[in-house]
Amino acid sequence: MSTQTSGGSGFGDYDRFVYVTAALAALNGLLFGFDTGVISGAFLYIERSFQMTSLFGVELGTAWVEGLVVSGALVGAVVGAAVGGRLADRIGRRRLILVGAAVFFVGSLLMAVAPTVEVLVIGRIIDGLAIGFASMVGPLYISEISPPKIRGSLVSLNQLAVTSGILVSYFVNYAFADSGAWRIMLGAGMIPAVVLGVGMLFMPESPRWLIEQGRDDDAREVLSKTRDRTTVDEEMSDIKETVAVESSDLRELLEPWVRPMLIVGVGLAVFQQVTGINTVIYYAPTILSSTGFGDSASILATVGIGVVNVVMTVVAISVIDRVGRRPLLLVGLGGMTATLVVLGAVFYLPGLSGVLGWVATASLMLYVAFFAIGLGPVFWLLISEIYPLAVRGSAAGVATVVNWAANLAVALTFLQIVELMGQSGTFWLYAALSLVGLAFCYFLVPETKGRSLEEIEADFRESAVGSAAGDATGDATGDGTPDDD
Ligand code: BGC
Repeated sequence: MSTQTSGGSGFGDYDRFVYVTAALAALNGLLFGFDTGVISGAFLYIERSFQMTSLFGVELGTAWVEGLVVSGALVGAVVGAAVGGRLADRIGRRRLILVGAAVFFVGSLLMAVAPTVEVLVIGRIIDGLAIGFASMVGPLYISEISPPKIRGSLVSLNQLAVTSGILVSYFVNYAFADSGAWRIMLGAGMIPAVVLGVGMLFMPESPRWLIEQGRDDDAREVLSKTRDRTTVDEEMSDIKETVAVESSDLRELLEPWVRPMLIVGVGLAVFQQVTGINTVIYYAPTILSSTGFGDSASILATVGIGVVNVVMTVVAISVIDRVGRRPLLLVGLGGMTATLVVLGAVFYLPGLSGVLGWVATASLMLYVAFFAIGLGPVFWLLISEIYPLAVRGSAAGVATVVNWAANLAVALTFLQIVELMGQSGTFWLYAALSLVGLAFCYFLVPETKGRSLEEIEADFRESAVGSAAGDATGDATGDGTPDDD
């Protein structure tokens, strides 16, 4: 089974169309990044500048309401990813993106006009629901419309949009710092939601999902717009062959040949979060001000961290289809481990200022850089590639739910862990978890570079059959997949 791809030579209309479609779908990532990032800034002003009424007498100042407003989106995202996975398989990828854009719009609107605390919390949870949908269906959709040779870069555009969304949220937080116009900050999400919703109306459905639904003619039409025409027939028959051998029963998820990949997705989801990325992204000013930096220097350094995150994601995009997913993961996790060890040491030493302050700042930035070339983009990419077509949405949904749940768990426990183990202890804990993540990736994560989704699926099936038969499958590298032919 071999699927010729476009993208290698020349730049045809089909390439351009795929790029435009992928870039538009990546707005899912922008909303995800912006909406998760903007709340930390907005919350300060909500508290300060607004005596909010409450129907049930809850007060904004109380910790649990604060937790609800800030973490409400994470809870919503867990639910959104759980429901979204199944929906993506049922109603299709494109329609779920449309639904998601509408939900984003409603959530942002509710938050912007919220007359009471309760409405604000509800708006935030609805917004989170959309974040949950978007985070799983964005990469999945792009993966399924992309030609294999450039699939890694195109799917990672979504992560580039996540990091850009976070960076934009830093600027928005900064720009509105004086006016405290939190309603505008939270309502701003409506703009990309409208662009995404309207734009998606003109974009095609995933050809793979169409074939899965028996809509071969529609699929052929999409493929002829997104591929070199000479390759369409071959890809059609590859996809149909895959559809013919699989069942869309959810129990498929627990089939012995799918299980290793479920473990990979769930494991990567956990490691992407428990190695601390969001504590660094959101607590960077606090961490840095304890190194003796003033407030504005800390905020500036935080913007620096956001920029590093974006720039290194661009680097990942430019190499991911050439060097592959595994090397990026391994280098990324190795670097995260090393920089976290240094951070722990710096905070362990007495008198954190001067040179040590700079070492801490540089280590934080390097840590983010290593996340951005590895776990950041590669987690979302792999979960859009490694699952069988019939249950791809549901399986990617499982990994996404676990990712958001781990994100929430880290957010809820971070301060207690710091209290318990101190700052150095916390960084060392994250370092140890990064090291375990490194071993996990080394032994279990497969390489998917350059192969079509159908080839990847067929290889997993064959290697499972092979190992069940006690047969050597050619998996000499022990990476869970047959070695490249
Ligand atoms: C993660 C987010 C994180 C972001 C940072 C994403 O891949 O899922 O939790 O905030 O990267 O760039």
